[in-house]
Amino acid sequence: MPMVTINGVEVEVEKDVSILEAAAQAGFDVPHFCYHPALSAPANCRMCLVEVERAPKLLPACYNPVSDGMVVQTESEQVVRARKAVLEFILVNHPVDCPICDKAGECKLQDYYFAYDAQESRMRAEKQHKVKAYPIGPRVVYDGERCILCTRCIRFCEEISGTSELTLADRGDKIEVRTFPGQELDNDYSLCTVDVCPVGALTSRDFRFKCRVWLLTSTESICTGCSQGCNIHLDHFRNETQRYRPRYNSEVNDYWMCDDGRLTYKNLHTDRLLSPQHNGATDNWHTLTKSVAAKLEKQIKAHGEESIALVLSAQAACEDIFLAKLFHEEILGKKAQLYIAGKPSGKHDDFLINADKNPNRRGIEAVFAKLDGIKDVATLAGDITAGTIKTVYMMGTEFGEGDRSEAVAALKKCELFILQSTQGADLLDVAHIALPACTHAEKEGTFVNEEGIAQPFYKAYEPHGDSLPDWQIFMRIAKAMGKSTLNFTFLSKVQDRMFEATELLRKAEEEAAAAAKKAAEEAAAKKAEEEAKKAEESAAATEEPQDSTPS
Ligand code: SF4
Ligand code: SF4
Ligand code: FES
Repeated sequence: MPMVTINGVEVEVEKDVSILEAAAQAGFDVPHFCYHPALSAPANCRMCLVEVERAPKLLPACYNPVSDGMVVQTESEQVVRARKAVLEFILVNHPVDCPICDKAGECKLQDYYFAYDAQESRMRAEKQHKVKAYPIGPRVVYDGERCILCTRCIRFCEEISGTSELTLADRGDKIEVRTFPGQELDNDYSLCTVDVCPVGALTSRDFRFKCRVWLLTSTESICTGCSQGCNIHLDHFRNETQRYRPRYNSEVNDYWMCDDGRLTYKNLHTDRLLSPQHNGATDNWHTLTKSVAAKLEKQIKAHGEESIALVLSAQAACEDIFLAKLFHEEILGKKAQLYIAGKPSGKHDDFLINADKNPNRRGIEAVFAKLDGIKDVATLAGDITAGTIKTVYMMGTEFGEGDRSEAVAALKKCELFILQSTQGADLLDVAHIALPACTHAEKEGTFVNEEGIAQPFYKAYEPHGDSLPDWQIFMRIAKAMGKSTLNFTFLSKVQDRMFEATELLRKAEEEAAAAAKKAAEEAAAKKAEEEAKKAEESAAATEEPQDSTPS
């Protein structure tokens, strides 16, 4: 493996990695615009020029591979001078309308200008004007004046989505990104072009002018749009999710996510069920859990455990499903009937989008180990009509592939229908009791994706209204029924017991713990290296002879 020296730091890297990637491994960021780790490298922006010993001129670090014994300087005087010149050139026609640009605060041009240029423009002539706020596709807006022609968006459409809608048109200072005649930027992943655009030339029509990015707090989460489980940054402000952005995970979604999934954040705030309800009237948790407990006991006594249906939701987290399992075993009685519900199947492709629109169907399999005896919710209406089910306790409001109107009509005939959900939808009019549950943005938990990969998500903000995590609702009702076995003080206690009981999740937890340990060790080693380097530099500085020339 080649050994290279970057800014005095020796590093051994894989054969054929670029100087830019080798520098990153040595702990140095080389500024770049057109380079993206998942796309080809056209080396067209020249922002990443570096000095390589014995090379006749500066080389683009994103394009040139390392060779054994290579000595590179990424911050030499010559390199910094070139960077400044590149920035000045890019800014010749740039409108610098940062105050009204959505990218401000996360724009590479803005960051590099402050780091390397920071001078007034020498441009005195009128700047070249191009299209502004042009709707290049149904979800993306293009600003030709801000575009730095890095071609990342074009390469994304060619190399990742495979849809090739974009190209560069015209010449000289009139050049801009356009779609081919008669086409729009309209593919299932079009909003990823906004992510890859290093400046504010492509912006999301959904997010435009909604919130300044420096006001956002970001929480690591998982998209719930389908069973792929794309890793996301859930960006929120004042207890509301403002947008999803893909979070890198080479095993699951790389750097990408689909547009439909990205926009599912809107469901987190629409038609929320925010307070416990009893026959349509608002109630409080204390009295309502007592009523639920009394009613369930009465139903079990009157018709037996087997007349009760507990409907599990493939939208719920593993921890919620685990509590539902304990609730079934220890409270309702093992003879109570179990059903699985979730959103109906939808479109799919051979990249990320899965037909199963539920984030945790595999999680139900992981928690229950065997699904024998658990029925599909599509059969629930028939069982109610046949009179075998008198009571339904349902998580969520979805009926999978089942006929919704038939299911709602059947639920009307139930002696007792308890709904536990984030939204009430059309079931609110039918439910005797409605219990408000938290969305995944308001709690912590685990989803298992289609591939069987267990992935944690974290609480972004406090629950809206009186909603509670599903696992806590089950616990409250169990307590009201006088059963103290379901008594977990914290989610971590639920997880300890769940991991103990569930082989798949236990394995995932061990892997996550090992990965976290490795990351902590790497971070500690990097910090020690940086401190040693700083100490070396300050020792060298004190040894340097003082300049005695009078000023
Ligand atoms: S729109 Fe953005 S990503 Fe596309 S070429 Fe212009 S600057 Fe690059
Ligand atoms: S592919 Fe599925 S999980 Fe990924 S972003 Fe789209 S809907 Fe969400
Ligand atoms: S990042 Fe290397 S030339 Fe653009």
